[in-house]
Amino acid sequence: MGLTRRSFLTAPTALAATSLLPAGLLSALAAETPASPDLSDWDKVRAQFVLDPAYMHFASFFIASHPAPVREAIEGYRRAIDANPFLVIERGLFEDDAHNMPLQVRTEIGRYLGGRAEDVCLTPNTTTGLALVYHGLPLKPGDEVLCTTHDHYSHHESIRLATERAGASMRKIPLFADAASASTDSLIAALLAGIGPKTRVVGLTWVHSSSGIRLPIREISAALRARNGAPLLLVVDGVHGLGSTDETIATMGCDYFCAGTHKWMFAPRGTGLIWANADNWARLHPMIPSFSDWDQYTAWEKNEKPASPNNANRMSPGGFVAYDHQWATAAAFRMHQQMGPARVAARIRSLNDQCKTGLAENPRVKIHTPKSGDLSAGLVSFEVEGVKPADVVKQLLARNIVASTSPYAITYARLAPSLVNTPEEVERAVRAVREISG
Ligand SMILES: Cc1ncc(COP(=O)(O)O)c(C=O)c1O
Repeated sequence: MGLTRRSFLTAPTALAATSLLPAGLLSALAAETPASPDLSDWDKVRAQFVLDPAYMHFASFFIASHPAPVREAIEGYRRAIDANPFLVIERGLFEDDAHNMPLQVRTEIGRYLGGRAEDVCLTPNTTTGLALVYHGLPLKPGDEVLCTTHDHYSHHESIRLATERAGASMRKIPLFADAASASTDSLIAALLAGIGPKTRVVGLTWVHSSSGIRLPIREISAALRARNGAPLLLVVDGVHGLGSTDETIATMGCDYFCAGTHKWMFAPRGTGLIWANADNWARLHPMIPSFSDWDQYTAWEKNEKPASPNNANRMSPGGFVAYDHQWATAAAFRMHQQMGPARVAARIRSLNDQCKTGLAENPRVKIHTPKSGDLSAGLVSFEVEGVKPADVVKQLLARNIVASTSPYAITYARLAPSLVNTPEEVERAVRAVREISG
């Protein structure tokens, strides 16, 4: 693990290392945080991205293009690390709280989520977060994890692997036959009806990357808590809602909220988070040694187990990671704060409304995403009569429009209007679908 905070402060060799530290290195590191650009209109926001202007990018939710503040933060940290790898990483990880870089990132994230830094666990992506949570839960033989037929591969497989290991079981239920006509009441009724006597955990996806439906997690959580029966834990894959929807994640009602931050948040590729409160962190058993939990490390030094309850830090997978990327996550959250989550969500909603309205005028198009912005977010999933989804995407690409298909057993074409798009681009995409549909 390199030097610990304690050995750093006490060992003579470590003190010698301190004296080699260029003066003010940590404040220089902090200064690598670039000045915020003017983000007061959407053209200025779009100008932060170096996306190929030859294309219209309607699949940005797949993986982010880094905007200028994130690129500059990564570059600044990379320069500092390349100049002084040991000093920068060692001090950035183990320095006092005021200079601890992961803590600074967690503080920025906690502020955005409406919660506390200490409840935020840094992960490399959504998949790792889901796997850590399900494998960490104290599942016993006979326990059941209930999820839906609509969840992503990463979510289903995290549950399958964890339940198999624990001798527990998993069950998938549909929440709707047709996402476009689902309502909050019908979704809640379907979920409540699916809960069985062995169900201990419910796994849901906030915004589905198959149909584009956005589940009303707040209302669902309230309904789960109001029902009679044993309390259930609610795990949410929130990746396509975080950064596209104006919600206070820390009060939304999830027990565990897992998301990559390298999609709608525009944080560096290979970054993500889990949010949970202290009680729910305490329930989990970590799977990977942490490099950021002091109690775990000092217990190991004494050949003991940590005595304190498990926490978010202890769940963060250790081993060195791409710190230039991890630390630059804060720049992305600051950028979102500066743009304003409500303003971001309203822009995404308006572009998606426009897209749905335009596509709906085409009788050969079936839209699978609910029309209401209250039950959808940044994706529009659709089919064109007589044209396979993959061919729709191919024909859009031939017109320089980057769309995608949903990676599920039943697949649809998807357009995901986001902050990198304009109303004119949405109009052109709708027109292109009209041409393709014949
Ligand atoms: C709903 C959903 N969950 C999870 C993932 C996996 O995300 P990550 O790459 O952050 O693990 C995806 C990928 O796009 C997704 O659509």
